Amino acid sequence: MKKETKAIRTQTERSKNREHSVPLYLTSSFVFDSAEHGRELFAEEVDGNIYSRFSNPNTSEFITKMCNLENAEDGFAFSSGMAAVFGTLAALLSSGDHVLSSRALFGSSHQILTQILPKWGIEYTYVDAKDQSDWEKEIKPNTKVLFIETPSNPGLELIDLEMAGNLCKKHNIILVVDNCFATPIIQNPIDFGADLVTHSATKYIDGQGRVIGGITVGRKDLIKDIRFFARQTGPSLSPFNAWILSKSLETLSVRMEKHSENALKLAEFLSNENEIDLVKYPFLSSHPQHDLATKQMKLGGGIITINIKGGFNRAQRFIDSVEMASITANLGDTRTIVTHPASTTHSKLSENERSLVGINSSTIRISVGLENVEDIKNDIQQAIERSK
Ligand SMILES: Cc1ncc(COP(=O)(O)O)c(C=O)c1O
Repeated sequence: MKKETKAIRTQTERSKNREHSVPLYLTSSFVFDSAEHGRELFAEEVDGNIYSRFSNPNTSEFITKMCNLENAEDGFAFSSGMAAVFGTLAALLSSGDHVLSSRALFGSSHQILTQILPKWGIEYTYVDAKDQSDWEKEIKPNTKVLFIETPSNPGLELIDLEMAGNLCKKHNIILVVDNCFATPIIQNPIDFGADLVTHSATKYIDGQGRVIGGITVGRKDLIKDIRFFARQTGPSLSPFNAWILSKSLETLSVRMEKHSENALKLAEFLSNENEIDLVKYPFLSSHPQHDLATKQMKLGGGIITINIKGGFNRAQRFIDSVEMASITANLGDTRTIVTHPASTTHSKLSENERSLVGINSSTIRISVGLENVEDIKNDIQQAIERSK
């Protein structure tokens, strides 16, 4: 079966009622057949559910589908994208280890590397280079993980996945890729050598702005360590959110095709607007890494980043002028969203840190929704005019 079919047809549980849609298993714990069965389950001598912090049929189904989509061996589902990033890094790293990372990261991932992991003696180095040799220079004897986000939020900077895969293989480093912007429909980092892939399922995987969730999938031996960490520390996805997310995967492929189609049309339109200084979209030929984008991504995705003329005040006026689009900090929704990263999602970074990752006070992130593209264009165009 092709991936889209598997995302629809994988149903791991069905009760004697033979329901068509998988039921929701809202239960904290599961009943043992006997005292001995309980002992066997805890000793991992037999398979089965024990307690929903460890596993639950709804989370298992979501994990199975995501493994199918990402070509992964195993996975663990978390309560948020950040729980997935933190749980993965915390499970893999010990005091004295070093993380190499792309500089352009989501704001909270940046805070984990710069403020939280150093509390336990885990150091990091940011790299913004493009060539393998420049990355290689930053590898230390204690480098254990390479963490990258591609495309990055919100600057849409790309990292060459093949380069990263080769580098990690050569130096025996674990490659972790945050694949939130691309989704498994557009890009499969494991095919390029990634060991683990993390997602904020809150974004395109839900796709309708309803639930918070996250997941890490990849190598079985590494997921074993992550599962141990998460079982004890408790950042697991709730069964209800897993049920929503598993259902959402059934439409992920068609949604990503339409998000990408609408975004490309809007990006082309914005490229001809005099009031916009910069339009960044991976599948626009003006994107500085357009060749790499078309090499490793099947579609351009749903996010466009623009710099509007007139600085901070103009950017605020533009956002206040949209009539249909939503003003919120989420992305990946059916509804078009405009966000000002410098004052919201990336406000905890210093101005200098923001400028190093391509964010300034004029930068606006547009998460292009599934409305008719003419309506999206009209709304953005009238907001450009009104904010002059
Ligand atoms: C690239 C990326 N990674 C991780 C996250 C965090 O996800 P969550 O909000 O589900 O914790 C986000 C959220 O915007 C993101 O854009």
